[in-house]
Amino acid sequence: MSNFGNYEDRIKNFSWLISEQELGYQPGQPINIGWYCSDRVCQQGKGDKTALIWEGFGGEKKVYSYNDLRLYSNAFARFLTDSGIKAGDRVCLFMDRIPELYIGFVGILKTGAIAQPLFSAFGEDSLFVRLENAQTTAIFTQKKHVSKVRKIKDKLPHLKHIFIVDYDGKNPLQDREKAFSMEGLGGVEDYDVYPTYAESPSVLHYTSGTTGMPKGVQHVHYSLISQYLTAKWVLDLRDDDIYWCTADPGWVTGTSYGIIAPFALGVTQCVLDSGFSAEAWYRFIEKNKVTVWYSAPTAIRSLMKAGDEIIKKFDLSSLRHLASVGEPLNPEAVNWSIRVFNKPFHDTYWQTETGCILITNFPGMPVKPGSMGRAFPGITATVLNPNNHEPYPQPGRIGLIGIKPGWPSMMRGYWKNEEAYKNKFRNGWYLTGDRARLDGDGYFWFVGRDDDIINTGGHLVSPFEVESALLEHLAVAESAVVSKPDPINMEVVKAFVTLKPGHTPSKDMELDIMNFIRKKLSPLAMPQEIEFVDTLPKTRSGKIMRRILHAKEWGEEAGDTSTLENE
Ligand code: PRX
Repeated sequence: MSNFGNYEDRIKNFSWLISEQELGYQPGQPINIGWYCSDRVCQQGKGDKTALIWEGFGGEKKVYSYNDLRLYSNAFARFLTDSGIKAGDRVCLFMDRIPELYIGFVGILKTGAIAQPLFSAFGEDSLFVRLENAQTTAIFTQKKHVSKVRKIKDKLPHLKHIFIVDYDGKNPLQDREKAFSMEGLGGVEDYDVYPTYAESPSVLHYTSGTTGMPKGVQHVHYSLISQYLTAKWVLDLRDDDIYWCTADPGWVTGTSYGIIAPFALGVTQCVLDSGFSAEAWYRFIEKNKVTVWYSAPTAIRSLMKAGDEIIKKFDLSSLRHLASVGEPLNPEAVNWSIRVFNKPFHDTYWQTETGCILITNFPGMPVKPGSMGRAFPGITATVLNPNNHEPYPQPGRIGLIGIKPGWPSMMRGYWKNEEAYKNKFRNGWYLTGDRARLDGDGYFWFVGRDDDIINTGGHLVSPFEVESALLEHLAVAESAVVSKPDPINMEVVKAFVTLKPGHTPSKDMELDIMNFIRKKLSPLAMPQEIEFVDTLPKTRSGKIMRRILHAKEWGEEAGDTSTLENE
């Protein structure tokens, strides 16, 4: 029997009070995620239980108990407080998946400051726009990444502290830099956790939009209420589980379900800080006896590609429950997992903005391969007619996924961008920006995005951001960025480029531009292909029509081209 049980019963009796009561939260009283992730678990007598099993790139291993998590997160918190960091300040984590990332996140929240995790793969431009927009006060990073911070820090007057967690004394520290060694310092027994309340800001995650620069999605401490319960009911987490969430905490999955929920549930989780390899992943599951595995379609497709033979080399019988998020989970992937693991991947659908899972195939209920599943109790999700933003009276029509606002982990705003936030609502519904179809059983079937955002391997990339960066390359005159199909990543970034006079298309030029974007933005945003063209399709008013290029890549009809300049 799953934690969730029966759908109809859960819907009938549902209230978020269930979660509040399990967590012992009293409305109006302080609620601090950092405290829930560490001190509370220790108070429940689980101080010696393993919180985190970490394996590094070279196979090195570290294990932390809940008491270690409490002491070391206190050390982070004390260090921040002593450095003058105050509640509400933004503190960035810019690190690989090392233990300091997970423990530091908990420590930041304990001070009342806002945790701002960013992918360590980000290049200097991606890092800069996010630190500038958030007016970040402090950043934790590693030696290997500090050079990117150094390149931009002079343009960031708000950035007062650059903390290096693995400083070895070999090179002198520069202006604003300071060494912070979590283990070197040792644990801190007593730290007065800052009394944040339900609506106090907790986490700031940046997400890409179609137009404009990335937006900071602002979450609050009350988000714990829905993160905790969805992890319990959807990921089916139990006290004796060994849980593996493969997502990086630079991404919301890696914080909501890679830090907050599992720790608040007092579950043991493991982290593998190395790139993808089927063999390494299966070995990790075998070695740690992983029971619950939360991953993503791109990884699953890569495992499928590696073949079934390799699976036979490992004992994966510990696996009890599998879940996936981030992109459409194709039915083949579900059927494959039933064949090779004897259990299906359960799709989960949500967003950075939603903070928690909204729609899912629940444990213990029949999975409809290719469908995202049904709405979580307490979540009113529907498919809206795009013309009037009213729910379709009958199932079966394709429309926009709309959610009734008001669940605990819904974003409270986009950082300093009230207009973009307002724009997400129509007719009393929060618009996800995705299109789907509902079937007669209440299952949602994902159709696609309702905008130009590219979802590559589960990561959202803004064509606008890539186009802007391309224009900074000295040879590029104009560009248009679209997605193109890819068997593993579902879609990848493709750029159409016109060159300035004096520059000629060549393979070297293509590689040079690709590399330029990889360094500036990130490997994910790097176009996998650059097509050099003489002109780009534009409207008569001069706007580049990405839609036409997109249609060409996907072998679709371009639709209405009557406004095309060169028609
Ligand atoms: O387009 C949907 C897609 O990913 C978007 C959200 O991306 P992000 O904010 O980065 O958060 C991802 C992890 C929570 C959605 O608007 N998406 C997410 N889950 C699914 C999905 N597309 C299809 N099926 C899913 N299960």
